[in-house]
Amino acid sequence: MKVISLIGNRPQYIKEAVLCQEFKKNNINEIIVDSGQHYDYNMSGIFLKSLHIKKPKYNLKVGSGSHGQTTGKIIIRFEKILQEEKPDLVLIYGDTNTTLAGAIVASKMGIKIAHVESGIRMLPKDMPEEINRTLVDTVSNFLFCSSKEAIQNLKKENIVDNVFLSGDIVLDLFLKMKKQFKYTIYKQLKLKKNKYVLVTLHRNYNVDNKEKLKKILSQLDKINQHIPVVFSMHPRTKKMINKFRLKRYIKDWNVIEPLEYLKLMGLLMNCSSVITDSGGLQKEAYFANKHSCVIMPDALAQELINHKWNRLCNEDNLFDVFMQGYKKLYIKNVYGNGKAGSKIVKVLKDLLVS
Ligand code: UD1
Repeated sequence: MKVISLIGNRPQYIKEAVLCQEFKKNNINEIIVDSGQHYDYNMSGIFLKSLHIKKPKYNLKVGSGSHGQTTGKIIIRFEKILQEEKPDLVLIYGDTNTTLAGAIVASKMGIKIAHVESGIRMLPKDMPEEINRTLVDTVSNFLFCSSKEAIQNLKKENIVDNVFLSGDIVLDLFLKMKKQFKYTIYKQLKLKKNKYVLVTLHRNYNVDNKEKLKKILSQLDKINQHIPVVFSMHPRTKKMINKFRLKRYIKDWNVIEPLEYLKLMGLLMNCSSVITDSGGLQKEAYFANKHSCVIMPDALAQELINHKWNRLCNEDNLFDVFMQGYKKLYIKNVYGNGKAGSKIVKVLKDLLVS
C-alpha cells in the first residue's frame, strides 16, 4: 500500500507526527507532501524537526494568498505529484485550504481519501474552515472521527459508510510527548506557575475586522490587569494588529512568537487557563486539565462546551465570561484513549491491503 499524506499547516504537522510513526511501524510506504501553506520556520519547519517527522518528499511552496489562489495552486501542483506517484490512498487532516485542495484532486482522480478529524460541524456556516470540512467529508472514502458527536454530525448528512470512531490523534501526541514538554518556559518569561493566562487568536472573523479585533484586544487588556496575559501571536494577527494600528492594546502583555509544540505545551501545563480561537488548543487545554474561554460563535470542540468544560465567548462578553471562573467537571475520555493513530492505520490496512 502506498499512501500520500498532504500537510501544510501548523496543526497538520502535529497530527502527521503521530501517523508517520504508525505507518513506519506497519511497514507502509508513506510519502509526505507539504503544501507550504505555512512557511515561516516557527509555523512549519520547527514542527518537522522537533517532532521528528519524516522529511516531506515534496514541498509545493504555495505560500500565502487568497483562498482561491492558495487552494488553486495546491490543486495544480498536487495533481502532478499524484499522477507521478500513483498512490492507493491520499490522507488529509482537518479543515484547511490544504485539506480541501487534496480532497478535490484525489477525488477527481479516483484515488481513495482518508480524512482524519472528520465530522466536525460548527457555525458560522460561511467560515472558510466550515466550507472546507463539509466539502471534504462529502468526497472522502474513510472518515475518522475524534468523538461520538462528530459521527452524529455525519449521520445527519447521511454520511454513514466507512465512518470510524478513532479518537483524537492530538491526544496520542500529547500523551506520548508529555515527558518532553518544556515545562520551565514560564520561568524564562518571568511568569509564576498557574498565575498567567495563555492566549492565542487567529480566526479570520476575529482578526480581520478592525472593530472586532479592537474589542477583543481591549477585553484581553482588561484581563491583563488581573492576571498576566501571555499572547502567542499568529502571523496573521500580527499583520492585522499592525495594519489597524492596535499595538497600544498589547503593549503591557507578554507577547511571544508562535511556539513550537513542546514549548507551547510546556507553557500550557503551567498556565491557569486558556483563551483561544484555536481548535487544537481548546482540546489540548482539556488534555492538560485546563479550561478555555473559546472566542468563537460555536466551538470546534463542541463536546467540551456540552460538558461545560470550556465556555464560548465573544468580543463583547469575553472579560465577564473569563471572570466567572470555572467549576471542575472533568469528564474522562471525551476524545478516546490516545490510541487513535494505531486504530486509523489498522482500519486502513484491513480495508486496503489485500
Ligand atoms: C490556517 C487555516 C486554519 C488553521 C490555521 C492554523 C485555512 C482556511 N485556515 O489559517 O484553519 O487553524 O491555518 O494556524 O486554511 N502567515 C505568515 N507565515 C506563515 C503562515 C501564515 O506570515 O507561515 C500569514 C500570512 O500573512 C497569511 C496569513 O498569515 O496571509 C494567514 O495564513 P493562512 O494560511 O491563509 O491562514 P491561517 O490564518 O494561518
